[in-house]
Amino acid sequence: MRVLARVGVGPLCSAARAVIPCFWRGKYFSSGREPAENQVTPMLRHLVYKIKATGPITVAEYMKEVLTNPAKGYYVYRDMLGEKGDFITSPEISQIFGELLGIWFISEWMATGKNAAFQLVELGPGRGTLSGDILRVFSQLGSVLKNCDISIHLVEVSEKLSEIQALTLTEEKVPLERNPGSPAYMKGVTKSGIPISWYRHLQDVPKGYSFYLAHEFFDVLPVHKFQKTPQGWREVFIDVDPQASDKLRFVLAPCVTPAEVFIQSDETRDHVEVCPEAGVIIQELSQRIALTGGAALIADYGHDGTKTDTFRGFCGHKLHDVLIAPGTADLTADVDFSYLRRMAEGKVASLGPIKQQTFLKNMGIDVRLKVLADKSDEPSRQQLLQGYDMLMNPKKMGERFHFFALLPHQRLHGGSHPMNACQSKPSPSPVAGFGELAWR
Ligand SMILES: C[S@@+](CC[C@H](N)C(=O)[O-])C[C@H]1O[C@@H](n2cnc3c(N)ncnc32)[C@H](O)[C@@H]1O
Repeated sequence: MRVLARVGVGPLCSAARAVIPCFWRGKYFSSGREPAENQVTPMLRHLVYKIKATGPITVAEYMKEVLTNPAKGYYVYRDMLGEKGDFITSPEISQIFGELLGIWFISEWMATGKNAAFQLVELGPGRGTLSGDILRVFSQLGSVLKNCDISIHLVEVSEKLSEIQALTLTEEKVPLERNPGSPAYMKGVTKSGIPISWYRHLQDVPKGYSFYLAHEFFDVLPVHKFQKTPQGWREVFIDVDPQASDKLRFVLAPCVTPAEVFIQSDETRDHVEVCPEAGVIIQELSQRIALTGGAALIADYGHDGTKTDTFRGFCGHKLHDVLIAPGTADLTADVDFSYLRRMAEGKVASLGPIKQQTFLKNMGIDVRLKVLADKSDEPSRQQLLQGYDMLMNPKKMGERFHFFALLPHQRLHGGSHPMNACQSKPSPSPVAGFGELAWR
């Protein structure tokens, strides 16, 4: 991989990454096992009032309120990532993670004919660390990307995190342009001089040849939960506990609810979680990619339509009962990649899900680790090795996290480049990461 060999000379990023032990959210436990303090939070008061006024709410509505309510939502006004927060993510663990993803996008850009311009669109960018590592790769490979007109587009609902992203990514000397009423609510210029904009919804991002990235984004989108009963599927709701008016409890709907249409007719599990919002986003991504080209890379913990109850909470690197002290803990559910694949079907091709360990190995993580470790002092070397172990170890994040890609059909089956005289059909190059690393 020529691109990888060139980025191999790049520096060790000076920003210190979180050191173990931190808790990553892919760790699976069923919800509500850990005891937690029963605190009456402003969010709990809001939910109790709402339920008393209009009746029990779906788990999806509960997740949406708790995580992204514009006034009190967990994601809206806090930095929950890293050692001092509630959980840790791969880009916060090792710079190598983002660098390899940067190479993936360049590799796809090259394989599809080196378009004169592209947008990099990240959904749920956290602290901006991942985009920062990708941008550093773009700068190091400036000679490959020269004359390509790049712009960065971040889809973020959190006011607090968008401020942190701006600090991480933008050039201080160029003032940010703020326009809360406009679809692009903030605009600036990155440290490497690339235009960058923030949006609340994917639909607001301009259409055009784009690479989309979603890392630990789909798992925070609201899920509906269903239980199979002798009477058929019944949706799980959240109600106020009749024994204690400041406590919440799960209840089953007495009859069929509209979200039941999302359950497959041949479903064999006795409990399922469905995320219609993920379906809408995948359909939007698929339409965009089919129309204007590019690709989407989605990385998250999840399953292929096999798991049942995965709804759980995290607070201070510990499991947290999802119904206790809402608004103080993160809520998450494993991503059902089989559902994402179904939502993309017919419009674009999909690859994966494949294990993080396999994807990063195929992308050349061992080579990059060696290059960085060889020129690091002992403490940094140890940190790099610990980070590698966390990302790759099958018992840690290596097998729990998966990569999944959406690509135009012609990318996999040929037809995107002009044919040469001797070929009846151009043969497409393999998609990096989803097959074994090939050295050229
Ligand atoms: C679990 S964090 C992951 C952060 C980052 N991708 C990482 O891996 O470090 C989820 C991110 O998605 C954002 N987010 C949550 N719900 C969102 C929504 N409905 N639309 C846009 N962003 C959302 C959060 O504010 C946060 O930036």
